[in-house]
Amino acid sequence: MSLPSWFTLRADDSFQLGPRLFPGRIWTASGCFSYGLSGHEMKTSQGGSPYSGLGAVVTKTVTPQPRSGNPMPRLCELPNGAINSIGLENVGLDAFLENVLPRLEELAVPTVVSLAATVPEEFGLMSQRLQEVAAGFKHWHGVEVNLSCPNVAEGGHDFGRDPETVASCVALTRAQLPDRALLVKLTPNVADIASLAAAAGQAGADAVSAINTVVGLDVDLSTGRPVLPRRFGGYSGPGVLPIALAKVDEIVNKAKVPVVGVGGISTAEEAMKFFALGAVAVQVGTAQMRDPFTAADIARQLS
Ligand SMILES: Cc1cc2nc3c(=O)[nH]c(=O)nc-3n(C[C@H](O)[C@H](O)[C@H](O)COP(=O)(O)O)c2cc1C
Repeated sequence: MSLPSWFTLRADDSFQLGPRLFPGRIWTASGCFSYGLSGHEMKTSQGGSPYSGLGAVVTKTVTPQPRSGNPMPRLCELPNGAINSIGLENVGLDAFLENVLPRLEELAVPTVVSLAATVPEEFGLMSQRLQEVAAGFKHWHGVEVNLSCPNVAEGGHDFGRDPETVASCVALTRAQLPDRALLVKLTPNVADIASLAAAAGQAGADAVSAINTVVGLDVDLSTGRPVLPRRFGGYSGPGVLPIALAKVDEIVNKAKVPVVGVGGISTAEEAMKFFALGAVAVQVGTAQMRDPFTAADIARQLS
């Protein structure tokens, strides 16, 4: 493809984010490429890999304890995306540190570990454990704090809705991780995303990732009931691209913190729209589930 003249980045150039140098600007988004290990047996007929040229793989979100997730069905496909209600199913921090992160290091996968918790203090404790186990790892670049989940201490409201709670989660994590990049994943389901991004930046985050999924619901006309047992889910995929672009623009213009753009990207052109607005990197989510080579293809086209 021919690139427009304003586009002077090279998506496969390394760039600094906080204390870390990332090897590229095209990443995969949390939850859409598992823990980042499942693509290692895959090759294109030309020998390409789903990891070629990627700046980072953001792992599935890990919680202090294993979680079995929400009842089935958890995913409902729509013409312009999907609504999911996975419920943060994951193996838990101990198994992740024993079986997953060392393997990612061996395979030299540039990794950002996504963390979620039920009270702010757990972010600090999880980061401390990570640092104890992986302090010497070269390819573990940082942590993405997923704040789109209920804060049990605050009556179950999402952590990511209140600037003070955002700041306390960030500060507790930053204190344990002085030499890794610290990103905060923001929910778009708020009136003022820029003030949350600003709070994250002031508390020590190196960047924010925007956006997580948009609250959505679909109805099964054969039963007249919502498709997902929990009624609501998170909408993602092509339909959320304009929402993600608007939220990124709001943050770039109102908060002094670098932004990693995520939401609805499945082509190089769509990734470039985020870079045009000032994003420092982008993440590919839902599109990666349909074709695990999507992010690598985008990285190749923008390199
Ligand atoms: C099936 C599925 C699982 C997801 N799991 C997580 C997760 O564990 N943690 C997280 O921060 N985001 C999770 N996300 C959100 C994505 O990382 C991303 O922010 C969102 O889907 C928007 O990007 P997209 O339109 O490219 O998918 C998940 C999305 C999907 C579709």
